[in-house]
Amino acid sequence: MTLSVPSDAVFLAELAPVAERLYERHLEATKEWFPHELVPYSQARDFEPGETWDESEVPMDPAVRSSLLVNLLTEDNLPFYFQVITRMFGADDVWGEWNRRWTAEEGRHSIVIRDYLTTTRSLDPWALERDRMHQVQAGFHGETLPNAANGFAYVALQELATRISHWNTGDRLADPKGKEVMSRVAKDENHHYLFYRDLVAAALEVDPSMTVEAIAHQVDVFEMPGTGIAGFKAHARWPSPTQGSTTSSSTTTRSWCPACCATGSWRRSRG
Ligand SMILES: [Fe+2]
Ligand SMILES: [Fe+2]
Repeated sequence: MTLSVPSDAVFLAELAPVAERLYERHLEATKEWFPHELVPYSQARDFEPGETWDESEVPMDPAVRSSLLVNLLTEDNLPFYFQVITRMFGADDVWGEWNRRWTAEEGRHSIVIRDYLTTTRSLDPWALERDRMHQVQAGFHGETLPNAANGFAYVALQELATRISHWNTGDRLADPKGKEVMSRVAKDENHHYLFYRDLVAAALEVDPSMTVEAIAHQVDVFEMPGTGIAGFKAHARWPSPTQGSTTSSSTTTRSWCPACCATGSWRRSRG
């Protein structure tokens, strides 16, 4: 006897009521926040014609500076992520609503991080803009997402990894304003992670075999979307300032993990 495998349309239809509940929970749990309230604009000054960026103005561990660049460029590729998620989950009903809300929230991340980094002159703005152009034009083709179950498993892993990356990068910044920016973004990523984590849990009920296979496959092949960034491998080779070993500078779960990760306090966090 051959077991029939449900199409993505059937799978998504069965999960839609759960997604609606999780979306409502997300709207209740998240708090409005404003990027401009976190950026220290009083520290800024104009870039004069012919001026070049001087890294000695803002001393920083090179691994942390590398993480900031990779984290921002990863956020910058939002148009491509929107396209991929629309293709996987559709543009109608709760899936489209969630995707548009998620996109609006994600848009704040590159706004606040870029404004902070430019205002404080923490990164070379010319190199940053050239890297952004490269990244957005290249898209992101490293993932293997054969069906919606793989899509859910991937984004659950990716949101968790992004949360850890932003949190740990902020934790290594000496500037309290920078810490605040990165922890604020990490809180958003945690809410995204909770949505997808619980969606994957529901998917295990709807189709256990397909979902377990999808989780196993995504854990096996997982890459962050930032792997398409120019010079990503060089960024990933920066040693961790605390461990003294080679690890990804910014975007993988192998890098530094916040204590709250282990205690579960993120689950209880609101805002
Ligand atoms: Fe983000
Ligand atoms: Fe996110």
